[in-house]
Amino acid sequence: MTIVPGVTARVPAKLNLQLAVGPRRADGYHGLVTVFHAVSLFDEVTAEAAGQDGVTVTGEGADRVPADQDNLALRAVTALRAAVGGAVRAAGVHVTIAKRIPVAAGLAGGSADAAGALVACNELWRSGLTQRQLVTVAAKVGSDVAFALLGGTAVGRGRGERLTPALAPATPYHWVLAFADGQLSTPEVYAALDRLRAAAKGAKGDRGDGQSPRAGARGERGDGQSPRAGGPRGVGPREIAEPNLDAALMTALRSGDPTRVGRAVSNDLQPAAVALFPALRKTLAAGLELGALGALVAGSGPTCAFLASNADRALDLAVSLSGAGVCRSVARVTGPVPGTVILPDLRTPKDPKTAR
Ligand code: C5P
Repeated sequence: MTIVPGVTARVPAKLNLQLAVGPRRADGYHGLVTVFHAVSLFDEVTAEAAGQDGVTVTGEGADRVPADQDNLALRAVTALRAAVGGAVRAAGVHVTIAKRIPVAAGLAGGSADAAGALVACNELWRSGLTQRQLVTVAAKVGSDVAFALLGGTAVGRGRGERLTPALAPATPYHWVLAFADGQLSTPEVYAALDRLRAAAKGAKGDRGDGQSPRAGARGERGDGQSPRAGGPRGVGPREIAEPNLDAALMTALRSGDPTRVGRAVSNDLQPAAVALFPALRKTLAAGLELGALGALVAGSGPTCAFLASNADRALDLAVSLSGAGVCRSVARVTGPVPGTVILPDLRTPKDPKTAR
């Protein structure tokens, strides 16, 4: 086995341009149809040979990332080692994560770090797993890890791990991210969605669809899913329709027209995220008032994402949003960007300023 001294991978954050959530499954997960979109906010993950596995986290929100075996990047190392077998069974790895993607923000930062660890260790160990093989390992580590490997714009099904790249023009979309002063836990947001759906169903005297309104873009709109009538009280697999890919969003993406895309974005988790983090309502409204073409909560939140028509409008929007006092900070990003890539500089620079 040839071991190289250290490998750094760069991994993007993601948005979900559509996040359609089906019923809770027997395994506790929810069936999804989602349109992932990788954006230019990156973590860097370095893997180096070490006596035993360990992790160091620096940068944005580093103190809130577990530095033990619960760390998703270390879980990815363990999963890859099991998949590769042979000599790497005895190979310890130290993972260093330079974070720019905020923690528990709905941008899949933990999944990004896991994807970075997979790619960096695959290179470090010269294991030679193909991207397809890495995707299989990634899917076992977390629902969003496979997409962090692939990047671009892709449709995710299942828990989000079954991916099909979306064909779309290479035109970049200009987004402004509004980071919240706080965090949301993904399982808690899914649980809140289940409760909202149960309450909505109860309020309809058991006739209704148990669906929360599809939220995003310019507020509520029809979800195009046929309600299933009847069934016992409460939310179960029978009452919530299976999610469908939004044809209007896919057409908009193929057109490359940000105005159409802005109108078509949607997120079923948004009402649940807003219920748990009511300040987001004001953030979303402010962005639309300031001219965003579309607005939505990123994944399970609490980051909000706003689409602008071009780079200049994104700059205006970012400045105005930060002045409006409706978020902790803002960032301008573009998408789609590629998934996990190995950075050409194989050695980790000692100076953290040059590590970026
Ligand atoms: O797969 P991952 O560890 O990222 O998921 C975190 C949690 O989010 C899960 O334990 C589950 O509670 C919730 N989840 C879900 N349905 C999905 C993805 C995540 O309920 N499709």
